[in-house]
Amino acid sequence: MLLDAKGLNTYYGESHVLQNMSVAVDSGEIVALLGRNGMGKSTTMKSIMGLVKPKSGTVLFQGTDITNLPPYKTAKAGIGYVPEERRIFPNLSVLDNLKMGIKHGAAANISSRNKWTLDRIFEHFPFMKARTHQKGALLSGGEQQMLAIGRTLMGNPDLLMVDEPTEGLAPVTVKEVRDILEDINKAGVSILLVEHNLKVAMSLADRVYLMGKAHLGFTGTKEELDARPDIRAKYLEV
Ligand SMILES: Nc1ncnc2c1ncn2[C@@H]1O[C@H](COP(=O)(O)OP(=O)(O)O)[C@@H](O)[C@H]1O
Ligand SMILES: [Mg+2]
Repeated sequence: MLLDAKGLNTYYGESHVLQNMSVAVDSGEIVALLGRNGMGKSTTMKSIMGLVKPKSGTVLFQGTDITNLPPYKTAKAGIGYVPEERRIFPNLSVLDNLKMGIKHGAAANISSRNKWTLDRIFEHFPFMKARTHQKGALLSGGEQQMLAIGRTLMGNPDLLMVDEPTEGLAPVTVKEVRDILEDINKAGVSILLVEHNLKVAMSLADRVYLMGKAHLGFTGTKEELDARPDIRAKYLEV
């Protein structure tokens, strides 16, 4: 397994928001983490990243225990994270936003097979090349999402964790973001995806995890989930 997070217990104050939560991603996979609002999907990603600290549980990445590393060290180990809020720098140009994603010197993920350069980013996201000097704030919602993804790729992640990338986007843009994730995966980046759009998630994922309140409710291939309308009704907004 590339990522193997096991038995995570995470609290916000007294509130036990992850109860023995586990999720794994194999090399080359796209894995979708689904469930209704407030179940703990974002907290699962934040616990893996080290943004919130699980009280117990283990996060193994490429066989190394990375539990509770600070986020910059998790990134250095090879995990890229695009949060729900897709924080690009609105006052920086597209080019400077991308450069912010470069982990330089000792911080680079030198073991990565997934080396990204500006030229390679422009091949995958042609609109950026034409607009390198435009401020981030002037991009559309979908373009900002793609810039956030592109910036994270500049850190050469082996695993990209993307939280709700199509949220609030127009249908045509949803398709663009979906296609870019498939494209990036084909280029060698494994993906853990939280996505409320079931069609998008099912069209991308090799395997699916469904979260009930604070815990894992179902895990299987997308074919197995396709065959279980009862499970979809229990855990998803369908
Ligand atoms: N910073 C926080 N402080 C306290 N409670 C939080 C915080 N972030 C999320 N929660 C709560 O934790 C639970 C899980 O949230 P979250 O992981 O964001 O769910 P999801 O991403 O599945 O919608 C929810 O009940 C939410 O209200
Ligand atoms: Mg969330």
